[in-house]
Amino acid sequence: MKIFTSKAELSHLLTELKKENKKIGLVPTMGALHSGHLSLIKTAKQQTDVVVCSIFVNPTQFTDQKDLEKYPRTVSADIEKLTEAACDYLFLPEVTEMYEEHETWHLDIGYLENMLEGAIRPGHYQGVTQVVFKLFQIVNPTKAFFGQKDYQQVLIIRKMVEILNLPVELVMCPIERNKEGLALSSRNVHLSETEKSKALLLSKSLFTIRDLSAQHTPEELKAIALNILKSDADIKLDYFELLDKDTLTTLNNDSKGMVALVAATIGKTRLIDNMIFN
Ligand code: PAJ
Repeated sequence: MKIFTSKAELSHLLTELKKENKKIGLVPTMGALHSGHLSLIKTAKQQTDVVVCSIFVNPTQFTDQKDLEKYPRTVSADIEKLTEAACDYLFLPEVTEMYEEHETWHLDIGYLENMLEGAIRPGHYQGVTQVVFKLFQIVNPTKAFFGQKDYQQVLIIRKMVEILNLPVELVMCPIERNKEGLALSSRNVHLSETEKSKALLLSKSLFTIRDLSAQHTPEELKAIALNILKSDADIKLDYFELLDKDTLTTLNNDSKGMVALVAATIGKTRLIDNMIFN
């Protein structure tokens, strides 16, 4: 796997490959790679000719300086995993390669970026669209791969692609979980064993209502999930919502399906999870 720290060098190479009609796949990450990230690489390998993974802990999407400092950084282990996964190129830029000193521009996606995660972390999604837009400009991917794990992020990036007519196809990949059901996350390394078992209540709430979804109304399903989540006082629930899966608005007669989204803090670790129901 070849590693690039220069956006110009990476762009140059990819432009040449595009001239040869190669399909470029982009998998943007912030590193601390786990099987969830690697599943995106695997899907990208299946659907495109050349796979570029980016590892960049994007400062503009962190609303809390401490969270940014605390974010796990495991570059050499990441490189090993990507090599093993036969990723073709790694883009590993410094902050100064991605941002000028006083860059204040940002996109305004509206409703989607100000609710749920966006309401709790104001400005977070503006940082996400800012960096993903830049990555799209540098890599010019045929397809870009994102995890359902960050469902709201996928919808926001989809909206950005629509609004700006960006020539990229988005692919949403399923959530990878450990064998107990916990959604894999780079932040899980901060959980103690006890916290990990408490964290299982998040996926339990989702799996339980999935199994009961045919017999209950959304209101009843929400109450059942809340009961599970509130059964442990150490789970500080930010939200549990059942919403229209395409717009994240309240369910209505036109809804083509619903999504359950949950966010909670356990100890000092904030976790999110979701499930789509059709
Ligand atoms: P990061 O949290 O590193 O996630 C990179 C990609 O991996 C995202 O698309 C995320 O949804 C996906 N992912 C994480 N955990 C997953 C799991 N358990 N199963 C499947 N996919 C999973 O999301 C970001 O980085 C950043 O916001 C980024 C898009 C890179 C912009 O900075």
